[in-house]
Amino acid sequence: MGLLRIISALTVLAAVLGLTYGSVLNVNYNQPGHDVSPILWGIFFEEINHAGDGGLYAELIKNRALSPKRHGSNLDGYAVVKSEGVDGRIYVSRENPLNSVLDTSLRVNVDSNVAAGQRIGVSNNGYWGIPTRPDYTSYKASFYAKAVGGFTGPLTVQIESTNGSVVYATAQVPSITEEFQKYEVTLTPTPALIQTPSLDNVFTITANGPLTTNVSIFFNVISLFPPTFKNRPNGLRTDLAQKLADAKPSFFRFPGGNFLEGATIEERFAWEDTIGDIAQRPGHMGPWGYYSTDGLGLLEYLEFAEDLNAEIVLGVFTGYALNGESVPPEEMGPYIDSVLNEIEYIIGNTSTTWGARRAADGHPEPFNLTYVEIGNEDWISNDYHLRYAIFYDSILARYPQMEIIATQVVDSRPIPVIDDHFYPGFGWFPDNHRYYDNAPRNGSKIFVGEYATRDNISPEEYANTAAAMDDAAFMTGIERNSDIVIMACYAPLFGHLNNLAWQPDGIYFNGVQSFATPAWWVQHLFSVIRGDTYIPTTSDADEQKFFHVASRNSDTNTLILKMVNTDQNDIQIETVTLEGVTSTRGGTLTVLTGGRWDQNELAEPLRVSPKSQAFNVTSNSFSYTAPAFSLSILEIQL
Ligand code: AHR
Repeated sequence: MGLLRIISALTVLAAVLGLTYGSVLNVNYNQPGHDVSPILWGIFFEEINHAGDGGLYAELIKNRALSPKRHGSNLDGYAVVKSEGVDGRIYVSRENPLNSVLDTSLRVNVDSNVAAGQRIGVSNNGYWGIPTRPDYTSYKASFYAKAVGGFTGPLTVQIESTNGSVVYATAQVPSITEEFQKYEVTLTPTPALIQTPSLDNVFTITANGPLTTNVSIFFNVISLFPPTFKNRPNGLRTDLAQKLADAKPSFFRFPGGNFLEGATIEERFAWEDTIGDIAQRPGHMGPWGYYSTDGLGLLEYLEFAEDLNAEIVLGVFTGYALNGESVPPEEMGPYIDSVLNEIEYIIGNTSTTWGARRAADGHPEPFNLTYVEIGNEDWISNDYHLRYAIFYDSILARYPQMEIIATQVVDSRPIPVIDDHFYPGFGWFPDNHRYYDNAPRNGSKIFVGEYATRDNISPEEYANTAAAMDDAAFMTGIERNSDIVIMACYAPLFGHLNNLAWQPDGIYFNGVQSFATPAWWVQHLFSVIRGDTYIPTTSDADEQKFFHVASRNSDTNTLILKMVNTDQNDIQIETVTLEGVTSTRGGTLTVLTGGRWDQNELAEPLRVSPKSQAFNVTSNSFSYTAPAFSLSILEIQL
């Protein structure tokens, strides 16, 4: 049999076996290219899908702060607690405001005598259940309360099962008065009662009999926190914050997204209302179908960026809301002042008005801020050229060191950085992985501020493996072009399984558990395994299916090769050649792969997750088979 016949027989066999083979991949280590942007991979947080309230923000009480502005008579989450035979009600009291911001309270009205051994009060079932978890070893509960009708306490504070049969933790406030005061207790659950995480629980505050019918007890700002990330007060949920920290993001974009703009100008992210004492934060209606407490406010965002050691990318409200309302230029004054004050709050020293306010709020040290984004997705407005110019001029006049990010190309002012967003269906990212290859090198830098493969998504689907690999294909192009693409982040970041307004998301959770999607693992891997210098690569493998990018990490003296296979068949690279590499000290191979529609879920959170193993590289030439639907990352020690 001649050589050609053998080759053709092998080709047929390979096709039958579903194997693409015979390609080469050259890694031109001897021709290093541009610097990889040092802040290339980061995160974008927006209050969507209960990403914050009920999610990253660790507050466990739903509807914590009551005010008519926010809730009308809405007592969502609350219920009256009363022993059998006791009569009582809860309702919103407008006559007993906590303060001028939260100008109502929750009233517990005792409508019958309560005998010794009986109780009456209020429960809250949190965001789809109050969580008990073995690692939640203590909770901080606090609330404002007062009583009339001769009741002076005590109040019993508990975490208990929904049916009341198990009390996990209990504490007492010995006495209360006729004036609102803040009360704080620590709740320490009995460890033996919490073997596994549970959400079938409520938080209760009750008064014990004997009580008479003329007693009323009033509450507001009822709050319950488990241990928080880095033990910050008013802090973040540990498992969710840790997942983000584990990805070592270089920057943190916030607060939106549509959440920044609001459905109306009134419902924008008004940062001034999100700082200071939580009892002074009115909250506001967000554009994703629920109220935000704004407990996760500007300072909490900034402190999280600090904890992540991440660059801040601040989105500022610039006079446009999602309903199409635009602030006319002549009325823009207060909005300009607001943005300048916001920047002063972040970077001003304590001798400035807003720097002093930040210090009073608990953070005397100024933060570093370079990137300020003017609005969000302003291609939907028709006056961005005007608004961009106004804010560009005002910000740079006061803070010339800022890098301004535009959300839409306009010619009214220079655009130092442009924010591009992509939410395509399957195939678009692989087809367009060269999107930035020919972008002008002397124009704007690029920030890919939101992207995700978004196709065939039903409520039961959470970013499957194929979608993740499409993202990864595009990301090889981002890294290859990271001389002009300086930052990129996936969106949305989080989805609460009980309230999904947008699919897919990077990380899903309920009140006690969370899991990363394959798409998030792609983000994680591209971010944690990074080089500082781009190394050009070429291959004759099918460019519709096989994607590659390389870099060198000078700190660790490592050559990093990222390969993505978006196809349903393995792709064999017969010869990977490391041009210019004379010796190696071994390597590590990390692979993320799964079936096309495989996804992670609560029951199997790590079904599609990265696996690492030693990779024996003894010369500068070797073969590699990229599994179907895979991201492979080779780290070769030089
Ligand atoms: O990420 C979800 C939404 O997508 C963002 O709020 C908005 O910026 C984009 O349209």
